[in-house]
Amino acid sequence: MKTIGVVTSGGDAPGMNAAIRAITRIAHSKGLEVLGFERGWDGLLTNTYKRLTPRNVGGIIQLGGTMLHTLRCPEFEKPEGVEQAAETLELNDVEGLIVIGGDGSFRGALDLSRKSETLMVGIPATIDNDVYGTDETVGFDTAVNTAVSSIDKIRDTAVSHERIFIVEVMGRKRGFLALEVGISVGAEVILVPENECKLEEIIAIVKENTRKGKRAGIIVAAEGVGDTGAIGQEIEKQTGSEVRRSILGYAQRGGSPTARSRMLAGLFAEKAVDLLCQDQGNRVVGLLHGAIISTDLEETCKKQKPLDMRLMKLAEMLAI
Ligand code: F6P
Repeated sequence: MKTIGVVTSGGDAPGMNAAIRAITRIAHSKGLEVLGFERGWDGLLTNTYKRLTPRNVGGIIQLGGTMLHTLRCPEFEKPEGVEQAAETLELNDVEGLIVIGGDGSFRGALDLSRKSETLMVGIPATIDNDVYGTDETVGFDTAVNTAVSSIDKIRDTAVSHERIFIVEVMGRKRGFLALEVGISVGAEVILVPENECKLEEIIAIVKENTRKGKRAGIIVAAEGVGDTGAIGQEIEKQTGSEVRRSILGYAQRGGSPTARSRMLAGLFAEKAVDLLCQDQGNRVVGLLHGAIISTDLEETCKKQKPLDMRLMKLAEMLAI
């Protein structure tokens, strides 16, 4: 193996830069050249890349986002797009490609692996933490901490005004971010798509809390549960409590990665480069029960990571 490629695809996540830096330096220490394809899969469609060196990846470990840029690339989903990307890899003699992203990026890597000789290895990096085969993705810890510090501030207003806040966090169709954030801020209610919670149940909790003298409250809702504005209005109507909604939005996706996200990026990068050096492709690296492992790419794409429902029970007990 002489040349490997790296691409960041899908939504950016804090720690992607730390992963790019680590891949580049580890690969160079093993005598490999690294091409950084720019703007996600589009870089493979247009043959746009920068040659990455230990020097030009300096000063990025602490930066959020991705120096290679990223985009959602519908052209790549077409068969012609995949063929084109395979040609680009062949043209540049790229023998291994490290794809840094989430499940959508890995589905792209799987399609590409069927048309290309290049070995594919995935590094899970998404604030959603919804990748099968890893307990944690790069960027998740940062997003959790960002959301927690915002909601701690929102609680000041909730308590002062004796209001209920429904705070919407990201996570696409999954509730990993909402659940961890909700427990960490001491939310009175956590709403996740994996656990249907009826409006009457939320209203009963709010009313009971008011009866107990708990007149302020935080409801953390995953964006995947639906219209949080409508939920908030209904709570206000049926409980008489003043309700406000706050959507944390993209602020959760940016910012300097936490030490944990940086460490994970480094450990995942080391495993990814090692796999390629051992001529192993179609793998996605991950952290399982404290160990750095890898899972088959197709399995990662097909299976759904379960949400730990015991944590929902814990959240309920902590919210009394
Ligand atoms: O996958 C990361 C994520 O931030 C999700 O939480 C969110 O639903 C989505 O990306 C937003 O996507 P876009 O950046 O395309 O608006």
